[in-house]
Amino acid sequence: MSIISKDISKAVALLTAEDIVAIPTETVYGLAGNIYSEKAIKSIFETKKRPFFNPLIVHIPSIDQLTDIAAYIPEKAQLLAEAFWPGPITLVLKKKAIIPDLITGGKDTVAVRVPNHPTTLELLNQLDFPLAAPSANPFSNISPTTAQHVETYFKDDIKMVLDGGACTSGIESTIIGFEGDEPVIYRLGSTAIEAIEAVVGNIEIKNTKEVSPDAPGMLARHYAPKTKTILTDNILEALKLHKNKRVGLITFQSEIDNPNIEVQIALSTSGDLAESASNLYDVLHQLDKMHLDIIIAEEFPNYGLGKSINDRLTRATK
Ligand code: TXA
Ligand code: MG
Repeated sequence: MSIISKDISKAVALLTAEDIVAIPTETVYGLAGNIYSEKAIKSIFETKKRPFFNPLIVHIPSIDQLTDIAAYIPEKAQLLAEAFWPGPITLVLKKKAIIPDLITGGKDTVAVRVPNHPTTLELLNQLDFPLAAPSANPFSNISPTTAQHVETYFKDDIKMVLDGGACTSGIESTIIGFEGDEPVIYRLGSTAIEAIEAVVGNIEIKNTKEVSPDAPGMLARHYAPKTKTILTDNILEALKLHKNKRVGLITFQSEIDNPNIEVQIALSTSGDLAESASNLYDVLHQLDKMHLDIIIAEEFPNYGLGKSINDRLTRATK
């Protein structure tokens, strides 16, 4: 029997009983549990096979709960929360003592956001605790953007995926930390950097574990298909190089006429970066099921959401 269901009250019952439930957000599906339940949080880490040092994002129903979670809110954090919540920005702030160490990997900061999905906002409003939710995929695999993706990963491990349809943004939230009171980007994501800069001015990107030990989840290989994947700014050259292989091609807009290609998908024939982002993971899931020899992906324009798409494609190639 399918574990996919639209029944919010069933999700409330499971979560209240310290169980875990996969939930929809505008970015990707999350694997959610009560932040105050050690049982639920341990079960999230075990189900994902995620190392305990990699902390979780806390999801709250509105900006009003932020002061329950964060001990200190820099002015620019407040501005960002007001500008983008509900929406795909996660803020990493000094945590209140009540936030369990298990959530934060023992750090004194906590990641928090208000997701922009009607089903999950309704769910959060019915609960009297926030939800910790990492993306609902096994550690380092492609993130899920449909209830079916989650079911494929976890049908034997969890009782329920709350169905909220396909995720509209399609890549994870942009994560912003603070050095002193100044924001820095820890993870590129569904909110374009230019939109963030319009609110808080110039912002530095510290998008790797190497330059930012404060972002423990930024592993080089992540969001990765099992099929070997390469990223190129010269598709024809790459096709020549892999000419006797079964190739799956991902492009931004264009269709390439070449007999080597077994399957090709343009992420947005109209050249829309937001549409490309929302299609990216589903296309990777699809191609990964086809047992191709190689996935060749075209580099995206390096601005707006194109920057975030290039970041995910680069991690998929490691
Ligand atoms: O869009 C999203 O953010 C999705 C949906 C479900 O909300 N969630 C998500 O969670 O992508 P996850 O666990 O896959 O990624 C969370 C990232 C990890 O890289 C983690 O290291 C980082 O957030 N993080 C969490 N707490 C942190 C903290 N206190 N300091 C620095 N980084 C933190
Ligand atoms: Mg993840």
